[in-house]
Amino acid sequence: MTLSDDNPNFMKGFDDNPFLEAYPDLKLPDGRLTFLCQQALLKYAGGDWADLGAFLGRSAMILALKADKVVAIDVFHADKVEPEKNNQHLNYYFKVVKEYLPSNVELIKGDVDNVCEHYDDEHFDGVFIDANHSYESVMSNFTHWLPKVKPGGIIIFHDYWDRWSGVVEAVDEILAQGEAHEIEQMGWCKITKKVK
Ligand SMILES: C[S@@+](CC[C@H](N)C(=O)[O-])C[C@H]1O[C@@H](n2cnc3c(N)ncnc32)[C@H](O)[C@@H]1O
Repeated sequence: MTLSDDNPNFMKGFDDNPFLEAYPDLKLPDGRLTFLCQQALLKYAGGDWADLGAFLGRSAMILALKADKVVAIDVFHADKVEPEKNNQHLNYYFKVVKEYLPSNVELIKGDVDNVCEHYDDEHFDGVFIDANHSYESVMSNFTHWLPKVKPGGIIIFHDYWDRWSGVVEAVDEILAQGEAHEIEQMGWCKITKKVK
């Protein structure tokens, strides 16, 4: 893939590889994931995964190193996350991202909680929740996607830390309700397991 002049300036390139030893040739796009969170995605990937909030595809590409199939979903709409970026650019980057993702990643443009309806219950081995970070959205993402995860499957919540109080509040409530229990925390990733 060549980055061209009309490429959105928020795509800075593919110059970072957190897994040099295991995957020396890997090139990942920019993303918003801490080192430890990337390690968490690689550790738990396997089988069928859903990546909620694909952005430029970094989390999807990490999951795809070990998963059989990754469904990566993003609304690709400026209103949802970054009003300063215009929708023309976002449509453009949907096309660009689609082009460079590996063949075991399916990129879908849509609202994550609508897209989940296309899948059977207990279809996924894991879900990475990294879309809108408000309390309401995280609760809604969890409620919509929990049935789609196999019993004992993995649900990883990104950005469980002070800056995202909505994420912390939602995840704490989810854990207290008992449908998923905590396995561990790696950086800002809270890793949980669906109970049944
Ligand atoms: C923090 S970024 C995701 C970062 C990404 N996981 C990575 O590896 O770089 C959040 C993304 O979620 C998307 N998003 C927010 N709300 C959404 C929704 N309801 N449905 C689909 N995508 C959504 C935004 O467009 C944005 O690209």
